[in-house]
Amino acid sequence: MVLENKLGIEQSAQLAEAEERISKKQAALLFETGRLFEIEIGTFKGLAAIHSALFSEIYEFAGKIRDVNIAKDNFQFAPRIFLEQSLAYIDQLPHDTFDEIVDKYADMNIAHPFREGNGRSMRIWLDCMLREKLGKIVDWNLIDKDEYFNAMIRSHVSTGELKYLLLNALTDNLSQASFFKGVDASYYYEGYTLYKTEKL
Ligand SMILES: Nc1ncnc2c1ncn2[C@@H]1O[C@H](COP(=O)(O)OP(=O)(O)O)[C@@H](O)[C@H]1O
Ligand SMILES: [Mg+2]
Repeated sequence: MVLENKLGIEQSAQLAEAEERISKKQAALLFETGRLFEIEIGTFKGLAAIHSALFSEIYEFAGKIRDVNIAKDNFQFAPRIFLEQSLAYIDQLPHDTFDEIVDKYADMNIAHPFREGNGRSMRIWLDCMLREKLGKIVDWNLIDKDEYFNAMIRSHVSTGELKYLLLNALTDNLSQASFFKGVDASYYYEGYTLYKTEKL
């Protein structure tokens, strides 16, 4: 069974193809229209705006807090009943320094507010904080997928590995091409490799 979707698709390969094509195009449009630079920085409201932009053609739940509990690799993300509270707490955490930004990103990952698409929307949300505060974004192509996932799992206990990986992958190339390549790498982490954002 695939996730219920607005496209009426019932096969997972077909849904993955459409989801990649449509949401990458929406990521491109976020940059091209300049809407990306108007998104509220470092809050759930901003993250929800990104999630909604990417996925609203595909899922009813785009930009909306999930209504189920979610676990991955035996780790249970924030229980649904505490989610609003967690998000309000995360909103007021500082995001002025690199360390604060990565800690906030790790906390938002533990909240995992959406039914799907947390990783892809949150990496754009992280880039928005880094761009605004440090004039940099992450070149996700420089971070190995397995190392990234291990650091995310480890981040429940310590964000040291994640900080090390991200610090070594920061770039001051804020161009559209650089952002698009980052989106492609971010999608590759989640198994989406059919389309290049710049070609959509
Ligand atoms: N065991 C885990 N512990 C912490 N974070 C995880 C774990 N597994 C996956 N993640 C994080 O969750 C993201 C995937 O969440 P998901 O909602 O499926 O996003 P997407 O649909 O964009 O792939 C990964 O990119 C990673 O950041
Ligand atoms: Mg996923």
